[in-house]
Amino acid sequence: MKEWVHADAVPVPLHTNGGQRDLTEEILEAVDQHEHVPTAEVFPATPQDKIKAALDRLASRQMVEYETHDKEQVLLTAEGQAIADEGSHEYKVWDAVRKAGRLSLKDQSLANASAKLGQGNAFKLKWIKKDGDALVSLTDSVSDTTREQLQYAQEHRAFQDPKLLKDYSKRKLVTTQKVITYVARKGPRWAKEMPVEVTDLTAEMIADGSWKTANFKPYNFKAKGTLGGEGVGGGTGALHPLNKVREEFRKIFFNMGFEEMPTARFVDSGFWNFDALYVPQQHPARDLQDTFYVSDPPEAGPPGSDESVDTILAEMDVDDDQDESDHPPSDPAIRAKDTTAKLDYQAYYDNVRAVHQDGKFGSIGYRYPYTDAETRRLVLRTHTTAISAYVLHRLSANPRPCRYFSIDRVFRNETVDATHLAEFHQIEGVIADYNLTLGGLQAFLKRFFRNIGVPDLKFKPAYNPYTEPSMEVFAWHEGLNKIVEIGNSGMFRPEMLLAMGLPEDLRVYGFGLSLERPTMIKYGISNIRELLGHKVDLGFIESNPAVRLDRE
Ligand code: PHE
Repeated sequence: MKEWVHADAVPVPLHTNGGQRDLTEEILEAVDQHEHVPTAEVFPATPQDKIKAALDRLASRQMVEYETHDKEQVLLTAEGQAIADEGSHEYKVWDAVRKAGRLSLKDQSLANASAKLGQGNAFKLKWIKKDGDALVSLTDSVSDTTREQLQYAQEHRAFQDPKLLKDYSKRKLVTTQKVITYVARKGPRWAKEMPVEVTDLTAEMIADGSWKTANFKPYNFKAKGTLGGEGVGGGTGALHPLNKVREEFRKIFFNMGFEEMPTARFVDSGFWNFDALYVPQQHPARDLQDTFYVSDPPEAGPPGSDESVDTILAEMDVDDDQDESDHPPSDPAIRAKDTTAKLDYQAYYDNVRAVHQDGKFGSIGYRYPYTDAETRRLVLRTHTTAISAYVLHRLSANPRPCRYFSIDRVFRNETVDATHLAEFHQIEGVIADYNLTLGGLQAFLKRFFRNIGVPDLKFKPAYNPYTEPSMEVFAWHEGLNKIVEIGNSGMFRPEMLLAMGLPEDLRVYGFGLSLERPTMIKYGISNIRELLGHKVDLGFIESNPAVRLDRE
């Protein structure tokens, strides 16, 4: 059994103030001593954002409260700073005169601009006077108001008399700067020390009753979440582009009244993958170079019911029959059994053999010796049509109009290149209804592809052993500037449907396309290895936006 990890109550880690004492502690100390603590004045050297973070930690616990102030601060210019440090221009002139006793007007120290300005001011203040060709002092001591006012401004970031700001700004000795400052005071849960806080309720706390008195850390609903992507604390999941496009297709199918077939069966028998679809046992598609065969276990049992598939399909039937009057049993497992009981897999198998080997249901068949061994070979399914065949045969227990789709993985033994891998995802749809026509299939396909933003379709006669007629679907590709194949379709052959026991006038359309192609087009990928396999860049997966297939 997994041991419970006891999350001990730990003091909340404190932010340190540049390696000094913790700022939260300093604020608590200041608030303890003074009713109001203007942070800019009490902590002039600490950046206000650090102060705010510390205040928020305390305010979230209601230990302190604070107000935010928007205020203008006075800053000294370089010249203002020089005056605060060394004295005003007039002071410096007076000082030089006093020290010299008599200072010649031609003295070098009076030559610069600052001394000229200072000389004028010192005259006005009656600190000095002219005596012949020299300057003499008129007083033994002066009070250098300019320097004092600037020193005050430097210390308090404001003038004692606010009226002075205009004058000093004009003289370019100071500038101003907007700052946000805070005034802190005791809060409703004032305490001088950070309490020990518990972050998790544990089994032990419940058992020993300590939860009753524990001090739980309050939730911070304003906390910013960690960013997704790589790195500590991040690493949220991201949907693969194929899954995003798959979701879009699923929505379209559901909107068009389709139900999703359960396709979690990657390995299937030759019977379902080929024989049921009237693919002759000598067909080149069944060759090793096209199909992957499974060697262990070597063969499948005879065709029969697949319980997991039947149960899921029976659940869908319950939804369908919701308002039918004959109240079918609603337990899907019972319904699945009911349906299976009506299906004779041996008779179906005999029909498939007969229609291949000797011809049946008005068909002359292929006329070759049909072998059990080929039927039972296990393959990695080469198309999801193997599942469609299973679902259509099941339909013969209760034939009715219906629409099924699937989007899942299939495998083909192909030469791997920039646009082909040995596996891909197939999007497949089947529609069963009475008296369907080929024109109806074309109309349906036009509507379906219009829904994924492909307006103009072209149809080309094609061949599938299981459909007649068969049509390849083509569309104009804007990027490639040419018409490209986008899908395959057809009407399932009577050799396939009648062998299943479906009524003669129940016709079935089928069509398939790959999920990879529209995805590559949507995301502008030219090499399939960027989309699937070990070379995929996870950054690409994580950073891709959601996709919308442009509907009309
Ligand atoms: N199975 C076909 C393919 O692999 C698609 C298809 C399904 C064609 C149903 C016709 C009918 O391309």
